[in-house]
Amino acid sequence: MEGVTSKSALGRETGKQRRILLANPRGFCAGVERAIDTVERALKDHGAPIYVRRAIVHNQEVVERLEKQGAIFVQQLDEIPRGSIAILSAHGSARQVLQEARARDLRTVDSICPLVAKIHSQVEGWYRAGRHVLLIGHQGHPEIVGTLGQLPSGSISVVSSAQDIAALDLPSNTAIAYVIQTTFAVRDADSLIDEINRRFSDVAAPRASSICYATANRQESAEAIAQKADLFLVVGDERSSNARRLAEVVRIAGCKNAALVRDERDLPWSLIEVAETIGLTAGASSPESAVERVCRSLEAHGFAKEEISGKVERVTFRPVSLEPLAQREREGSIEDRLVSLRKDIDKVLEIAIGRRSGHDKRLADAIRYAVVGSGKRFRASLVMAVSELVGGDYSQAIRVGAAIECIHAQSLVHDDLPCMDNDDLRRGKPTLHRKFDEATAVLAGDALMALGFELLADQATNPDADVRARLVLSLSKAIGQDGLAGGQMMDLYPPAQPTEQFVFACESRKTASLIRFAVEAGAMLGRCTPDEMDRLLLFAENLGLVFQIRDDLLDNIGDVELVGKAVNKDADSGRASATVLMGVGGATEEARKRENACYEALDGFGEQAIPLMDIARFAANRMH
Ligand code: IPE
Ligand code: IPE
Ligand code: MG
Ligand code: MG
Ligand code: MG
Repeated sequence: MEGVTSKSALGRETGKQRRILLANPRGFCAGVERAIDTVERALKDHGAPIYVRRAIVHNQEVVERLEKQGAIFVQQLDEIPRGSIAILSAHGSARQVLQEARARDLRTVDSICPLVAKIHSQVEGWYRAGRHVLLIGHQGHPEIVGTLGQLPSGSISVVSSAQDIAALDLPSNTAIAYVIQTTFAVRDADSLIDEINRRFSDVAAPRASSICYATANRQESAEAIAQKADLFLVVGDERSSNARRLAEVVRIAGCKNAALVRDERDLPWSLIEVAETIGLTAGASSPESAVERVCRSLEAHGFAKEEISGKVERVTFRPVSLEPLAQREREGSIEDRLVSLRKDIDKVLEIAIGRRSGHDKRLADAIRYAVVGSGKRFRASLVMAVSELVGGDYSQAIRVGAAIECIHAQSLVHDDLPCMDNDDLRRGKPTLHRKFDEATAVLAGDALMALGFELLADQATNPDADVRARLVLSLSKAIGQDGLAGGQMMDLYPPAQPTEQFVFACESRKTASLIRFAVEAGAMLGRCTPDEMDRLLLFAENLGLVFQIRDDLLDNIGDVELVGKAVNKDADSGRASATVLMGVGGATEEARKRENACYEALDGFGEQAIPLMDIARFAANRMH
């Protein structure tokens, strides 16, 4: 092929310089760089072998380079030895794959592109809203397989042509929502959307197209050159959807010859010989080194390079956290884990509170007094256990745990005030208003609540703004009128003849709401099916009641030294607690029933739920 130098002069018959027009932007996108970086860092930090399920990105050169560093690529998880490190590809994986990874005890890191993850959460949202999802994409592509695997089968139909849309067996008034494969051709998607709107009357869609910025930019920059080029070369793999789309769009935009080439080895010399101007671009998973080698081959045949300027891309993604890999190494007995949890929570809290001086010191000291270094951390350990169950990230869960501990500490500081329960002892030391003063206690409570929300809303807690918004919304509901605050009102102002129903409604709101939120928040950090979420919430509701009934019991049977707060107060202060109403025997019986309901709710999770069962057992039997 290379022996055609003599013919390379053909283009020069016109006397013009033969040119390569290089499209910009081209090549690696932020999601691809992040996925490759994940494997490289895992290799560096944990050593070979690191297993990768499927091609991390669709490019053989990238795959081979990582193989040389010690990565082993497999098709299925059962090819990976138990307990090994497994990285899931940037295209995203079905829920079933993550569940299987957990079942095989793999230390899994998901390098899913955040823009694909966003599609996953969008389809789930549409599904929950009762819509049938149309996924505009190419059947069989891993991104499509992964997205289909987010919902029960039959909830999504994949369409890639007008005929597919016409053939859908759905009435025209079906509530529909559509999303688009991130690497689909922009123009094709536009015409399919028109088709969907013609066919259905109730169509919802994401605010912005789910075709990713990189696909759109690469198509646009290549199209802009297409008419000037006699031949267009697209550096990319046969498997790469976005690279193949590039070859298609330049043809449609007016360049009759377009070829997909892996690198210089695939150059179509018969077309190059007769070309004067060659357009050159690269798919989002193609390394620039392959583009450079293509250029060098063409330059050796008399072509000169010309960079065509285009959009500047500034998209970057936060690196994938490798915490879940370190987690296992940190794991020991449950006690060891609690010690390290306390340390990690306190670290986040210390940083969040910060060191203040002068006027600001008193408030910061009060906040620290209320939240750092004490408490059972029951709610935080719940977040951790649920997050681990659903494959969440350890450091994200720690931040959520710290946020909940701030809110919980606030509720205690205010609960202890003279206008509420009027308590002098909390967590084995003077209550905040005794140590400082009442006004400081009110304000420290306010600031703690704000700090809790701040931690949740911070990007470091979760890169997906949608997840953060759901965390904030759900916490707001958990602690407001219908949650903790409303429950505290019921507690302070019970009716003259409180019923059991009243007491449990009160306890469900004042205590179970935040515990429910801890479970829900942990679940939001990973992935679980809607059915799993329902079971976790059922577990949480029962756990919350077990926890507060035990608190009521401790008021009767507890020891001040151990409990760290006053006992024998509830009856005297006119509280309608479980023991006041049902006696110690009745309350113990009720707690036992609720504890069993916790185990029942966890039934379907198998061994993975043992840590949550331990938490329920602790809540029911604790002495502090
Ligand atoms: C006490 O909560 C208030 C209740 C909701 C019963 P905890 O018993 O969790 O208190 P700490 O955090 O361990 O001090
Ligand atoms: C508190 O219930 C519930 C909160 C939301 C703080 P209690 O008033 O029984 O809690 P303790 O016994 O003071 O910890
Ligand atoms: Mg109270
Ligand atoms: Mg109290
Ligand atoms: Mg109490």
